[in-house]
Amino acid sequence: MNTVAPLPLILLILSAEAAVSGNDTETVLSATPGGSVILDCAGQRAARVWTSWMKDGNIITSKGGPFTDTDPADQRFTLEPNGSLSISPVITEDSGSFLCSSGLSDNITVIERVQLQVIHVPSTHPDCMVVQTQDTSSVQLNCSWFGAYPTPRLRWEEDGDFQVTESLVVTLNSSKLSDGQKMTCTAQHELLTKEKARSCSIILKTPYPEGQPLVTVLQGTNMTLTCTENVSVPPANTTWRKGQSQDLIVPGSKYILSSEGPELKLTIVNMSEDDERYYFCRSENALGVQELEVYITVKTSSSAYTGAVIGVFIAALIVGSAVAVAKALYSRRHTICLGGGFMQAEDRGDVLDLVDSDDEQIIHDTVPQLPPLANGRHTTLVQIHRIPSSDDHEEIEAVEAKPQLPAQKEEPTEELKEEKEEEKEEAEDLVLF
Ligand SMILES: *[C@@H]1O[C@H](CO)[C@@H](O)[C@H](O)[C@H]1NC(C)=O
Ligand SMILES: *[C@@H]1O[C@H](CO)[C@@H](O)[C@H](O)[C@H]1NC(C)=O
Ligand SMILES: *[C@@H]1O[C@H](CO)[C@@H](O)[C@H](O)[C@H]1NC(C)=O
Ligand SMILES: *[C@@H]1O[C@H](CO)[C@@H](O)[C@H](O)[C@H]1NC(C)=O
Ligand SMILES: *[C@@H]1O[C@H](CO)[C@@H](O)[C@H](O)[C@H]1NC(C)=O
Ligand SMILES: *[C@@H]1O[C@H](CO)[C@@H](O)[C@H](O)[C@H]1NC(C)=O
Repeated sequence: MNTVAPLPLILLILSAEAAVSGNDTETVLSATPGGSVILDCAGQRAARVWTSWMKDGNIITSKGGPFTDTDPADQRFTLEPNGSLSISPVITEDSGSFLCSSGLSDNITVIERVQLQVIHVPSTHPDCMVVQTQDTSSVQLNCSWFGAYPTPRLRWEEDGDFQVTESLVVTLNSSKLSDGQKMTCTAQHELLTKEKARSCSIILKTPYPEGQPLVTVLQGTNMTLTCTENVSVPPANTTWRKGQSQDLIVPGSKYILSSEGPELKLTIVNMSEDDERYYFCRSENALGVQELEVYITVKTSSSAYTGAVIGVFIAALIVGSAVAVAKALYSRRHTICLGGGFMQAEDRGDVLDLVDSDDEQIIHDTVPQLPPLANGRHTTLVQIHRIPSSDDHEEIEAVEAKPQLPAQKEEPTEELKEEKEEEKEEAEDLVLF
């Protein structure tokens, strides 16, 4: 192999040897893989003394000039007597910038650049992306597919038009979009048959903020609520709000907001009884708005339990309650009438189904570490929260009176409540250990 000098150095050598003509032309050629191509060197010059070809700065072949004579290292390259370089067969890697330098008899050097483009498609698929904007009235989608030659044709959706581009951005009015809608970008190219057109898709999703729906804290401590929203497409704008009027929480000495990736944290400093209320984590994108509802209970410092212990306590309590509910419902399956006529227990099979699904639901809800299901209005969880404080039956009623409460979630019987109380005592014993 020859010593390879960088292109600028070679050009410097050339201009030192002889005057460069000043007509520095560039030609763009395309070639098909497997075919052949001839790269001409600065036209047909009669008195050509020497010629050399370089590709991407490296000498391919040279004859009679200031460089050491070199036969092409690659059998596919041939230096023709007239100075042209022929390549056969062409491969994809031949794409690149060729430079021909040629010395004429009158000490003039001619330089010509040839840009060779081999027709090909990359092995990749196009890339579908959502363009980040604050605007929720529309969605911008970006489809890009780089590396194909010639430039591919891209199209968003069946009814769109194909456009010759490597990157196609569309703006869609959100009123025409719906949750779960799949947006597809198709790429066409002469090397791909229609059936083999490459594509990529984006599935649009409304936000779904997740977090702990119920929190109990000691008065005077700092409390951090975490809300995670990572399913929405396009990414949602998430905010913390407080109270039934859902006032936007403004950071300050009382409230500290921080975000880490998809997590938005709200720290409430020095919890007091005034802070006992609903908080909302509100996520919005062009497809819609979803809220996580969190209720904070503030315990006075006389309470011996930490938030963690209370959490375990609630979990134990509710697993117990679930078993009790299931047992009770099953043993009374002929007589229970749930939710004021919502379900008449005539059919044994129906009732068994109901018990199964309720059971599952309650156990799922009580696992404290898992992302809770409290999205929108999960009133079941609100009720569960109320169970430990047996002194506020009024509040239970208040909550149950909320119009969102599904009728079938109401306490089935008085007797069941009693059984829950029993379970609670057991759980309390557990906590003391
Ligand atoms: C450069 O060469 C081309 C043809 O090879 C010719 O048409 C053009 O006029 C030349 N330009 C100059 C500045 O000499
Ligand atoms: C070309 O250059 C060489 C060496 O620099 C010199 O001897 C010769 O006379 C030059 N020829 C012409 C035609 O200028
Ligand atoms: C679309 O994506 C491509 C590739 O990431 C990028 O170069 C281009 O700037 C994007 N266009 C817009 C409008 O964001
Ligand atoms: C979106 O569509 C609605 C109704 O179809 C229209 O009122 C609104 O102006 C459109 N918005 C944009 C940004 O085109
Ligand atoms: C509560 O937060 C405030 C403000 O960040 C801080 O000064 C204080 O030390 C924190 N208190 C506790 C108990 O962590
Ligand atoms: C916390 O708030 C109470 C009143 O609710 C106040 O008396 C106390 O000084 C506050 N503590 C801190 C550390 O700010």
